[in-house]
Amino acid sequence: MATIPLTRHPACAEKAASIRAAVRAVAFPPDGRRILAAADDAPRFFELIRDPAVSAPIYTLPKPVTLDAARAFIERHVEEHARGEGLLILDLDGLGAVAGYHDIQVWPVWSAAELGGAIRPDRQNAGHGGAGASAAFDWLFGVIGVDLVCETAALDNVRTHRLLERLGFHRLGEIDSDLPGGGARRSVYFEMTRAEWNQARASRIG
Ligand SMILES: CC(C)(COP(=O)(O)OP(=O)(O)OC[C@H]1O[C@@H](n2cnc3c(N)ncnc32)[C@H](O)[C@@H]1OP(=O)(O)O)[C@@H](O)C(=O)NCCC(=O)NCCS
Repeated sequence: MATIPLTRHPACAEKAASIRAAVRAVAFPPDGRRILAAADDAPRFFELIRDPAVSAPIYTLPKPVTLDAARAFIERHVEEHARGEGLLILDLDGLGAVAGYHDIQVWPVWSAAELGGAIRPDRQNAGHGGAGASAAFDWLFGVIGVDLVCETAALDNVRTHRLLERLGFHRLGEIDSDLPGGGARRSVYFEMTRAEWNQARASRIG
């Protein structure tokens, strides 16, 4: 089993503390379209992830996907938020249903993060994933302050491979990703540093 991130440059104590504080400080305006998941959101989060077109490619989600497992997943992220090590962010549609989510794992000691998530099938394949991921990477490097982002994707998750490579990530090979219920899934593993992100971003603008 691979422990990610594969590249590990220890952050100094001040840097790690500042990343932790930035994660803990994340909050969204009340009544907005983006919220931090709370236990009460389990039923509407479950409605999203119960669809295999959402959850099948995502190794971090519990399988089988049940309401209790969805609630436990949220509760783990509430604890991670309090420690400054993770966030579960829900995107709501106009009816209050969950139309997508970001699952962010942060390792302050390595100044690194991993972004996961999904978009509801009726919104997939229209460029929202690429645009949302680009904004999220900007925010991870610029606001949370990490120096490395790593990503994993199932071997056949071509959309995610393309999306990441277009944004400047490079493949470091394949790893076994630990499944929450035990066992492993083979994944393509990607990384990008802050310097690489800034360079890729500048060339996109230019
Ligand atoms: C993966 C996901 C977030 C991508 O978001 P999306 O809005 O559907 O995808 P986009 O429209 O932004 O397209 C992403 C890339 O895939 C390409 N693509 C879209 N459909 C494709 C297909 N059927 N075959 C090959 N490539 C395809 C797009 O051209 C784009 O490539 P580009 O950036 O080089 O133009 C979304 O499909 C999703 O939630 N999937 C289910 C869960 C999942 O796989 N999550 C990621 C786990 S790591």
